Amino acid sequence: MGEKISNLKKILSTSNQIIAFTGAGFSAESGISTFRGAGGLWSKYDPSIYANINYFNQDPTYYWNFFKDERYPVIKKAKPNDGHYALVKLEKQGKLYRIITQNIDGLHQIAGSSDVIELHGNTRKIFCMSCDKTYSIDDIYKRLKYELPPRCSCGGVLKPGTVLFGEPLPQYALDMAMLAAQNCDMCLVLGSSLVVYPAASIPRIAQKKGAVLVIINIDPTPLDDIANLVIHESASKILSRLIG
Ligand code: OAD
Repeated sequence: MGEKISNLKKILSTSNQIIAFTGAGFSAESGISTFRGAGGLWSKYDPSIYANINYFNQDPTYYWNFFKDERYPVIKKAKPNDGHYALVKLEKQGKLYRIITQNIDGLHQIAGSSDVIELHGNTRKIFCMSCDKTYSIDDIYKRLKYELPPRCSCGGVLKPGTVLFGEPLPQYALDMAMLAAQNCDMCLVLGSSLVVYPAASIPRIAQKKGAVLVIINIDPTPLDDIANLVIHESASKILSRLIG
């Protein structure tokens, strides 16, 4: 492990155009469950029901119950962890160029990172599927006790601003992420299983374009074989040890 850490230190010191690619494992130390891996949400909830746009369109009450009982209470309580703050520091040092996240919890921005691309949206923003009017997450949460699914003043169904399976990623975010992948000199994957596409193509593209690929994730990922350095450890602990 000591050798891996000193390799990572060396890579960080020679890189000046770093992108961080974060996943659910990066928010684990903030108390938010991952989807896969030990105790992952998808072992309790079937994603084809609770995270699929076709199912949501048929019956949004499943999703909203999941949001009310499982997601909102956890996300509401969550605070950025040492890893989030380490990335803020790396940005201030002028080394971190952009964060590309699959997380929908907004914790990078709350920590103070200024350049965050959210590939899978943000659950703190609620919007109407008919007229696009937006609502505050806290106001909607209060209504969930007596109104399922919650509706807009126009009568349309409300939906959190997260991308569900079967929905396209926000095009602008995807374009910006692709551009960043093509222009970075290091791609630092932090807490992602790297199994969900198109997001997981970002580290591959970065490496193909010449960036050094480093993966810090507790469980093995499908890109471990091609990465320049792999550390199976807590991403926020390793980062805060090096940068914090
Ligand atoms: P996953 O839940 O698929 O993977 C999280 C990874 O984090 C696992 O491989 C764990 O081993 C690892 N892990 C857990 N704790 C960690 C820690 N403290 N430090 C480092 N690694 C840790 O999460 P994502 O890859 O983000 O999308 O999942 C991608 C997408 O799948 C999500 O955005 C979500 C989900 O379904 C949608 O819902 C569209």
